[in-house]
Amino acid sequence: MAEKFYITTPIYYVNDYPHIGHAYTTVAADVMARFYRMQGREVFFLTGTDEHGQKIEKTAKLTNEKPMELADRVVVRFKSLWEKLNISHDHFLRTTDREHIFGALHFFQTCFKNDDIYLGDYEGWYAVNDEEFLTDTQVQELGDAIHNNPNIVRLKEKTYFFKLSKYQDKLLKHIKANPEFIQPESRRNEVIKFIEKGLKDLSISRTSFKWGIPLPQDPNHVMYVWFDALSNYLTAVGYGRDEKLLQKWWPANVHLVGKDILRFHCIFWPAFLMSAGVELPQSVFAHGWWTVEGEKMSKSKGNFVDPFEFVEKFGADPFRYFLLREFPFGQDGNFSREQFRLRLNNDLANELGNLVSRTISMVGKYCEGKLPQVPSNPTILISDCLAHGAKYRDHLATMSFDQALNEVSFMLRKTNQSIDQSEPWKMAKDETKKKQLEQHLYEWCEVIRMVSVLLYPFMPTLTGEIRKKLGLPLVEEKKEQNALQQELKFGVLLPRAEVIVGSPLFVRIEA
Ligand code: MSP
Repeated sequence: MAEKFYITTPIYYVNDYPHIGHAYTTVAADVMARFYRMQGREVFFLTGTDEHGQKIEKTAKLTNEKPMELADRVVVRFKSLWEKLNISHDHFLRTTDREHIFGALHFFQTCFKNDDIYLGDYEGWYAVNDEEFLTDTQVQELGDAIHNNPNIVRLKEKTYFFKLSKYQDKLLKHIKANPEFIQPESRRNEVIKFIEKGLKDLSISRTSFKWGIPLPQDPNHVMYVWFDALSNYLTAVGYGRDEKLLQKWWPANVHLVGKDILRFHCIFWPAFLMSAGVELPQSVFAHGWWTVEGEKMSKSKGNFVDPFEFVEKFGADPFRYFLLREFPFGQDGNFSREQFRLRLNNDLANELGNLVSRTISMVGKYCEGKLPQVPSNPTILISDCLAHGAKYRDHLATMSFDQALNEVSFMLRKTNQSIDQSEPWKMAKDETKKKQLEQHLYEWCEVIRMVSVLLYPFMPTLTGEIRKKLGLPLVEEKKEQNALQQELKFGVLLPRAEVIVGSPLFVRIEA
């Protein structure tokens, strides 16, 4: 049976419309899902929305809606963005789904039965937006400012606590013994330091508002939104209701998260799982944050990058490509409109688009639109490109998206150089160079074919258009086969197959 791959994105709060940050994680997860599907692996790709909690309740008051109405309205935006961005998730979970609520309660009750949850008193400063009591250090840092911040309220309540402190040593041991559990390494060190400072028990119920899952043992309490939300990764694959499904997919191979929610995923979540006797996910990868034109995105600045705008103007694929091409996945990066334009003009119009259109039109002109014979001794261009392809695969397996794409850029650049240097337009005039010209043309088409597979996870539509030009089946039509392995070799294109010149792939963006 094919090896499984289970990947998740965070579930997004429905108090706001989706922006570039949300698109970033979701596109990254989609690339990984497609990358493994095209290698014949069975993939489960989960995304969804986080719909409970004080933040949602407060926003709903402001917009004069019931929390559920707010969620129903905003969730449509997320779903339609994912459709426009060609996201291939297998399930979209809402924390207000019945199955999720059932599973989240089962998870809570299991920790309760295992004696890890107790009733106690809690008083402290609570940050409404983050749904979290502030830590002592945060309170110290804020000083007097705490009193003037409308987002921070004093909260005293009877609350159920989770015995987080009990898991401190076990957690540290696990993190140290499994270097791949938290990535990249800098984030891992951050978590280790945090745990080493000592973990306090965690308040996991609230009585100060209503919008959440009520606890059966004490219905005045609703479940802490992070306990509810994190359990989505389990409830989506049958936890508490379908043991076979759970067996099939759990543990998750990777949870993709932003750096701001690292602690929730690398401390709380594994501790809850340990308590419930559930295996831990294999890894959590925390990516960096986007700034916009050098500044932090914020409501007050009104500088959110709206993914809808970019997708409508330039199409999903260029936007997807740009997001993952610009900087390493674990680091922060900046979004600028000019950089977007330059990057796409250079990579997609000049390097890729140009190569495809000039090569295919030469096959049209010099070979009556039919592919030449497979040469028996391919040139160094081919062995070079195969080597870049192998590196691409290794980079993508470690989520080094930018480096994987860089390997493809090398292939494109070398092939374009090969065309410039061999001057096929001159060869075409010399009958004695006919064989040589045909060899080149076949090889260039082969590189384009390989690139259409390598770029497929990033740009499923554009690469599909390339494959149609070469008369090839779409990557997704190859289903359980290992398309990557099958196509990362030489001599796949059939001689005499017809090519279709058609329209240019990508039109340059004007300043
Ligand atoms: N609901 C929680 C997650 C629960 S997961 C069990 C949440 N939601 S969120 O909508 O606020 O944020 C979702 C993700 O968006 C986070 O991973 C966060 O890092 C990411 N981003 C928010 N702004 C971002 C940028 N400016 N850049 C990149 N990612 C950013 O947190």
